[in-house]
Amino acid sequence: MSTTVDLVIRNIGQLLTMSPASGGRGDAGADPVAGLGLVLDAAVAVQGDLIHWAGKDQDLAKAVPVTDQTKIVDAGGCVVMPGLVDCHTHTVFAGSRAQEFARRISGASYEEILAKGGGILSTVQATREASCDSLVATALQRLHAFLSFGVTTVEVKSGYGLDTDSELKMLRAIREADKRHSVDLVPTFLGAHTVPLNLRAKRERYLQLLIEEMLPAVAEENLARFCDVFCEEGAFSLAETRRVLEAGLELGLRPKLHAEQLTRSGSIDLAIELGACSVDHLEQINEADATKLADAKTTAVMLPGATYFLGKSQYAPGRMLADAGCSLAVSTDFNPGSCMSQNLPLMLNMACIYNGIFPREALLGATRWAAEALDLDGAIGSLLPGKQADILVLNTPDYRNLIYQFGANHTQMVFKKGKAVWPRPSLDRR
Ligand code: NIG
Ligand code: FE
Repeated sequence: MSTTVDLVIRNIGQLLTMSPASGGRGDAGADPVAGLGLVLDAAVAVQGDLIHWAGKDQDLAKAVPVTDQTKIVDAGGCVVMPGLVDCHTHTVFAGSRAQEFARRISGASYEEILAKGGGILSTVQATREASCDSLVATALQRLHAFLSFGVTTVEVKSGYGLDTDSELKMLRAIREADKRHSVDLVPTFLGAHTVPLNLRAKRERYLQLLIEEMLPAVAEENLARFCDVFCEEGAFSLAETRRVLEAGLELGLRPKLHAEQLTRSGSIDLAIELGACSVDHLEQINEADATKLADAKTTAVMLPGATYFLGKSQYAPGRMLADAGCSLAVSTDFNPGSCMSQNLPLMLNMACIYNGIFPREALLGATRWAAEALDLDGAIGSLLPGKQADILVLNTPDYRNLIYQFGANHTQMVFKKGKAVWPRPSLDRR
């Protein structure tokens, strides 16, 4: 049976397939390549939007019928790996918090600013005032920036609307941006981000609104895949978090959680009980939590950029989580208040230095485990036959440079579902 392939990438110095066959979670110790599925002198063949074959370049001719129709790309001896997955972002928002950043540098804390009606609430005001079209326009610009860093799938949360119309507007903007951009977006409802200013004295009213009005409206329009809650002092208590997540579950929205970030709430048990897809932040998590997480189907997500940008010194205990055997993703948390950066590779560098994980674990954290944190590991996060052809070609022959040479942009080319999407064709022509 002959199958023609549409695209072949040859002359790959180092191919990282992230194949599950090359190592699972917590079983690799300090082995520098375990889990990466490293193949030297490799090639990858793509048919339609899927990976057809990946292996040694010298085996290509035997394995794959290359025809005149096949587009051949020479990787120049550089690295090829799965497109990066950013599994926790707040990419849709209006306004700027540059002023708040200056206040924080002058000594005000993130928590104080939020308690006084600033912080998240100032972005809420700007986002409520923005039209859906303008939210889409800025989101598209931000997606270009993600793509430039090699990111091909981005989870995006609502949570800067905090009333039914504004939350729906945000989620519709996410859906529209997804349609119009090659980067895939995964929408999450985060109406329980904080209680809006006008209902601060009437929390119960806001909880009712979330449960009885917003969630059903979101489900009705099929606008979100996950339901997230900021479980934190000054945001939502453990009991409130349970109510919101259970209501979401009943409507088919799988839980996610902003968990154990600033103060300890004990939310990991709840997340596991409710089958949360991921628990994110985790600065305050303890060893007992980590052991339970390792046995659960819940992915731990670390967001070192937020700890860094808030000037905190307690990072999530990544080494402990990895040693316990958790699947451990790393993400930007891109948002205007606690991490105004879309540079996911930079977060991998921070995860090594501050969370204590090994470079190979960080690379898995932005591919295979990040895909798992979105329940998409069947389709993305690794380069195996049958997976989506989301492919990142780096401009370096050594994959370690993606993390080692921090702050730089190492993207040479990006393919999304088998199509070349970076550098952007419009930029090429200039
Ligand atoms: O993930 N923790 C709560 N939410 C965001 C911050 C949002 C904001 O400050 O605008 C976070 O850090
Ligand atoms: Fe967040």
